[in-house]
Amino acid sequence: MSRCLAVFPCEDLRVKSSPNSPRDSALVRAARRQSVPHTPVWFMRQAGRSLPEYRKVREGVGMLDACRSPELVAEITLQPVRRHGVDAAILFSDIVLPLAAVGVDLDIVPGVGPVVAQPFRAHADLDRIPELTPEHVSFITEAVGLVVAELGATPLIGFAGAPFTLASYLIEGGPSKNHERTKALMYGDPELWHALCARLAQISGLFLGVQARAGASAVQLFDSWVGALPRRDYDTFVQPHSRVALLAVADLDVPTIHFGVGTGELLASMGAAGADVVGVDYRTSLTDARARLGDRYAVQGNLDPALLFAPWPALEKAVLSIVAEGAQAPGHIFNLGHGVLPDTDPAVLTRVVELVHEASAR
Ligand code: CP3
Repeated sequence: MSRCLAVFPCEDLRVKSSPNSPRDSALVRAARRQSVPHTPVWFMRQAGRSLPEYRKVREGVGMLDACRSPELVAEITLQPVRRHGVDAAILFSDIVLPLAAVGVDLDIVPGVGPVVAQPFRAHADLDRIPELTPEHVSFITEAVGLVVAELGATPLIGFAGAPFTLASYLIEGGPSKNHERTKALMYGDPELWHALCARLAQISGLFLGVQARAGASAVQLFDSWVGALPRRDYDTFVQPHSRVALLAVADLDVPTIHFGVGTGELLASMGAAGADVVGVDYRTSLTDARARLGDRYAVQGNLDPALLFAPWPALEKAVLSIVAEGAQAPGHIFNLGHGVLPDTDPAVLTRVVELVHEASAR
């Protein structure tokens, strides 16, 4: 909750609520398990290559350069809101951006993803990962300001990568299927693992806080690849650090969403890390997720992104089934079970938004 109590006049605009403020939006209300006029919907990776207008503004501009330009970030963030009428924007950035901001030598290679020049391997490498300060990412504060000014009552979701997923990119040097070097370090040198994750938790937490302070109305912690771990090891090696990252925004009155791919076995632990909303991928039904989570959390998800390529009747059936399952949960934010695939037809996404709104209108 806000620290702005009765003793001092409240100067924090974010905590003021009016009927048309993002704080009263369907997304924020669903995240808080409050009643909603309709099920809110947004899509992970809604800003990006599925949109021709995105490809146009990105022509000749590198991914990291785009992420560092407040005007471009604002434009790309707003594109899917204009086109699809989704219930939230997600800031256009990348999970490795804060690592680049503290000086880690990395690039985001088209068709590959983040590539780190010198992977993290030994204790001495900790020196290459200093603390993140708001000054390192002042362009994010500026970008969020521009976006929020345009969005009006539509909420902006800020995000960060969680320590495990960031550690995987740093240790593997790039995207990895099996995370073998990451696991070798985690199981083989727990002390170094925890030292690395403590630094990454500071970076994630501060990055979330910068976005929330600048005006984001909710934040999502992406632990995309943590589904590679069994729950016992998640609890030992990961959850304490993800909790630190989420705690960094506990005072800021923004709901938190915690998501990973293939994390059906980890849902309860991911909720207990301190989230309001637990993201569910398409492998676990929302009904099963709720059975694992109880009534303390809202859920987000979980249409298989590949279903967006199916004929409309099959897609419609899947969407309606998720809307109905979600209505049984204490709060539901409709989303995909992972990000929009690059070749997705944007018109299909718009149609899904309309269907979710119609089917859930209360
Ligand atoms: O719309 C949105 O969701 C906002 C933008 C966003 C991007 N990356 C833009 C992006 C978000 C939230 C992310 C987070 C991110 N980045 C995650 C977590 C989400 C997830 O998918 O699990 C991860 C794991 C990354 C790392 C990363 N960055 C990958 C795996 C890739 C894809 C590589 C490829 O080209 O296939 C990227 C690049 C990236 N991030 C692109 C975009 C729009 C594509 C770059 C381009 O258009 O040139």
